[in-house]
Amino acid sequence: MGGMHMGIGMIGVVGAGTMGTGIAQVAAASGFEVKVFDEFEAARQRSIAAIQRLSASSVAKGRSTEEERAAMLARLCYADDLGELADADLVVEAVTEVLDVKLEIFRRLDALLAPGAILASNTSSMSITALAAVTGRPASVAGLHFFNPAQVMKLVEIVRGYHTSDETVRALRELCGRLGKTGIEVKRDTPGFVVNRLLLPQLREAVKILEEGVASIEDIDTAMKLGLGHPMGPFELQDLIGVDVCQSILDYFRAEMGDEYTPPVLMKQMVSAGMMGRKTGRGWHDYAGGGK
Ligand code: CAA
Repeated sequence: MGGMHMGIGMIGVVGAGTMGTGIAQVAAASGFEVKVFDEFEAARQRSIAAIQRLSASSVAKGRSTEEERAAMLARLCYADDLGELADADLVVEAVTEVLDVKLEIFRRLDALLAPGAILASNTSSMSITALAAVTGRPASVAGLHFFNPAQVMKLVEIVRGYHTSDETVRALRELCGRLGKTGIEVKRDTPGFVVNRLLLPQLREAVKILEEGVASIEDIDTAMKLGLGHPMGPFELQDLIGVDVCQSILDYFRAEMGDEYTPPVLMKQMVSAGMMGRKTGRGWHDYAGGGK
């Protein structure tokens, strides 16, 4: 059903990591046909296993039925060849936050997809305009930034690149509604958009407070949960996002906006030491005992 933006039917997802997996599950559960491409077999296997596990637990909790689960899984497939995404009306790129990797995928997708198909990136901070510039369809390129865990968090930032058309923004807004999400429009392509522009300085400051010996990790987390009603404290949240991801966003902010965003020494040490959060079993907190 390629072609004009109305009626997105088939969604392609590039990258079967945490975010790609969450986006694929939400889209399939909302009735879309979904194809997920990842070049790594192990990533594809982890992704489908996660979706099977999460959807089974949703049935066990009575949030959905076994029939709904089976229908969702039937709408979802995995590809080891990007070419299989050729008939998608929308492709969401959710690969690693390395600009050159993203640019290469955007070039290949642009050559592959029907004219009018939308190319979106789930990048958490990078320039949509720069991604659009390597395609022949900059009006149909936008940011579509989901939050972790994508199955749960209601927000999606719809980010305009320099050339993004009103029609593309409208189509993505409508899509967010069909996914059960609320889209907000980020009118200018700026580092970190809205949420990460506000969040990362706060996560950075939490590490500075720790470095200065002002309070402990546990007490800083407690402070933000009980003092501001946040569901997680800043150290728990870094562990969820990945301490390495936080560092790379701050590195990017520093390059684009100045030294006040420099990642704290302790944060860099955590990354070098391989303590990147839940995904490595240890970060600011210890998850070895079976943390989520
Ligand atoms: N994947 C999928 N679903 C998950 C999940 C995960 N990793 N973790 C929890 N859930 C689901 C659970 O299955 C459960 O679903 P049901 O309601 O259907 O039972 C629901 O979420 C609530 O889970 P729990 O009861 O186990 O736990 P909780 O109430 O403590 O909530 C949380 C967990 C939703 C993660 C909550 O702590 C929270 O909202 N934390 C803040 C998350 C946040 O700020 N995310 C943004 C990160 S920043 C980002 O993503 C941007 C970026 O670019 C860096």
